[in-house]
Formats: sequence, structure tokens, C-alpha cells
Amino acid sequence: MDWQFWTVQYPEQVAGAGMSEWERAVQRTYDTVAVEYAARIFDELAGKPFDRAILDRFAALAGPLGPVCDLGCGPGQVARYLHDRWHEHGLDAFGIDLSPAMVAEARRLNPGLRFEQGSMLALDLEDEQLGGIAAFYSIVNVPREDQPRAFAELWRVLKPGGWLLAAFHVGTEDAHLEEWWGTAVSVDFYFFDPTEIETRLTAAGFTIEERHIREPYPEVEHPSRRAYLLARKPTETSSPRPPLRAGEGEQMIRFPLSIAMGRGAGGAGPSHYRSGAQSSEE
Ligand SMILES: C[S@@+](CC[C@H](N)C(=O)[O-])C[C@H]1O[C@@H](n2cnc3c(N)ncnc32)[C@H](O)[C@@H]1O
Repeated sequence: MDWQFWTVQYPEQVAGAGMSEWERAVQRTYDTVAVEYAARIFDELAGKPFDRAILDRFAALAGPLGPVCDLGCGPGQVARYLHDRWHEHGLDAFGIDLSPAMVAEARRLNPGLRFEQGSMLALDLEDEQLGGIAAFYSIVNVPREDQPRAFAELWRVLKPGGWLLAAFHVGTEDAHLEEWWGTAVSVDFYFFDPTEIETRLTAAGFTIEERHIREPYPEVEHPSRRAYLLARKPTETSSPRPPLRAGEGEQMIRFPLSIAMGRGAGGAGPSHYRSGAQSSEE
């Protein structure tokens, strides 16, 4: 029997087969808030010039290598930005999210772009397929003990030389929500010291190329400091490299302050992204 023809296709409603308890809880939570989340967050990049600038930088590096995945895409605003700004330069953006309702929102809001349901712990992708992964605020729901598995999975699907851009909230205290925008949910949000994530990424085989920290944009987003790590899978490797020595790979390369603080980067995107602040809570 030739097993390669035996693949099981799950409908999205039962795509959670084999998921952990926390993945189910995260999926249920985002299924519950997906419509409201999309209404509040989908246009957020208009008010986040630093995010647009770092996405442009990431796109210029990753786009030429292969498809770029918006992982934990929510309503798909990152995939949409990358497509709108970089598709004409050859970038192929698509999105994956754990929550089927988020995937439905992403498809509704971005006709013509591809969005699939899946978990970053077990991606339905071949080895070494992607030029880049943008994970914006999606590792914030992944418990620390499962992050090594998630980062190994991201490393697996990236091409040698491929890029990972991870964004997350900086902080020392995690949060548990039982209610979100007036709806009952159950979900944990993890806050990190960037060094903690860098350590796990290097253990998974990545090199840390850039670290950026910015203050929150008032009236645009939840008032937490934001970290952006640009990491790379080494160009010549067939297995995860050992962890870096202490201090290695921690160089800080910063954008000019005018960009990091949200001034002067308005020209980075098309006019749709140059308007003023949007109100959001992400
Ligand atoms: C805070 S939202 C961020 C959404 C979007 N990236 C943004 O920046 O607005 C977190 C998203 O990550 C997704 N997510 C959480 N854990 C995931 C996992 N293990 N695999 C894939 N997506 C996941 C959630 O379903 C949710 O849509």
C-alpha cells in the first residue's frame, strides 16, 4: 500500500483533533471574539507607522526567498499589508490561524488572499517552504513550555536563510481573561522580556538579527511596550544549531528614533495606511 495517498481531510469545525487543552481554550476564545476583534483591529496598521516600517523591512528580506505566512493572522491585516504593498514586487502572502472564526473573518475581509486554519505547533506545511513568517501577537497565547515546540516548527517550515518577525508585549506579569469586550472567554496572555524569547529562538536554531522595542501608540492600542524580534534560520544548515553562548546575537540595531516613535514613517506605505490613529485594544 502506498501511504502517501492516504491523507485525512478534516473539516475546519473539527480541525482541533489532537489539540491540547490550551489550544482549544485559545481557539474557543478567538472564535467568540472574532467578529468584534476584526471590527476593532483590522485597520490598526494605519495608526502604527513603526509596524509598517518593520513589515516593509521584513518583506524586502523574506519576499524574494519564498511565500510569507502571517501566522496567528487574526483578521489578516498583516497579510493584507504585505500583499498590498509588496505583491507587485513578487511577495506571496497568506495567513494561518488557530481559530476557524478568525480565518472566516480574514477571508471575508481579504477576498483573493489565502487563509487556512492551523496551529503553529503542527503546521500543515512541507519542510523548508517559506521565505518568512510574521507572527504578530500570536506567541502571546502560547505557554512557555510549548514555545520550544512552536519555534522548532517555525524553523522546520522556513527555507534556509528564511526570516521570522515576531511581535509581542513586553512585561513581567501574565494575564488571564475570563471576559473580553463583554463576552465570556477563557484565555491566557503571556508577557515577555525579549531576552527570554531570544533565548528560546536561538535554542531552536535561529540567529537574532535585530531587536526593536517601542512605546505604545496612545489611543491606538493596549498601553504596553512592544517588542519586535527579527530572527533568521541560518543559510547553510540541516539541523538546529546549538544555543548561542551568553551575549552572542544580542546586538541591538535600531531604526532611527523618528521611525521608532511613530514620526516620519508615514511614507512607508500606500495612502490607505497613512491616515491617523485608529482606536483598538490589541
Ligand atoms: C492577539 S491575536 C493577534 C492577531 C493578529 N496577528 C494581530 O496582530 O491582530 C492572536 C491570534 O493568534 C492566534 N493563535 C493563538 N495561538 C495560535 C496557535 N497555536 N497557532 C496559530 N494561531 C494561534 C489566535 O487564534 C489569534 O487569532
